[in-house]
Amino acid sequence: MLDEYAETKRVCNLGDILKNYAMDTIFAITFGKDFNYLEKGDHLALYYVLDVFTDYLAIFGQIPWCHRFLLKNPRLAGWVAGNASSQLKMMDLAIRETEASFEKPYTGGPATFLQLLVMNKQQNPKSITDDEIHGNALGNISAGSDTTAIALRSVFYYLLKNPTSYDKLCEEAGKSLKAEL
Ligand code: HEM
Repeated sequence: MLDEYAETKRVCNLGDILKNYAMDTIFAITFGKDFNYLEKGDHLALYYVLDVFTDYLAIFGQIPWCHRFLLKNPRLAGWVAGNASSQLKMMDLAIRETEASFEKPYTGGPATFLQLLVMNKQQNPKSITDDEIHGNALGNISAGSDTTAIALRSVFYYLLKNPTSYDKLCEEAGKSLKAEL
């Protein structure tokens, strides 16, 4: 994918790439598959709603009693988010993938986050509701993607500003991956 930027001499926004990479990673550990954000970008239109709600949480998470007068009201939430399809797509995605996990039981290997929740429910049906499973799947995407992307961006930013550390990392990675970096 990076070769394509080099060959066409297009500017490559590393911040965007890392954000899309983080999305794919969180999708993979939650649902067991990525949605190819790396190549397709935000084709599920999730970034807008994530931006709106993370700003909201940063402010009103400090004064939680306000929430019942604000976005706890679904009509107001739809109005503030503006792009209602984005919210619905996100919820649809969580519901669809949860249903798929119920239909395809775990058969071994590393379990996804969703499979663990579904197995837990099958063993102890009262421990968690379907809505809570959907909420946890959405929670991972909203809590895990920006944070991971920001951490990765910082790592790259500081590595690029500190050539000694960058060289040392390349040397270490080259040795363990047995590749020339
Ligand atoms: C560098 C990456 C990350 C940072 C800096 C970070 C930071 C945090 C912080 C500060 C909290 C609040 C803890 C508290 O309540 O005191 C939190 C909660 C949470 N994080 Fe992360 N996180 C990261 C990655 C992730 C990832 C990858 C996932 C999921 C795949 C995730 C899922 C969650 C969830 C679900 C919560 C809420 C837990 C609860 O119910 O209290 N986070 N994270």
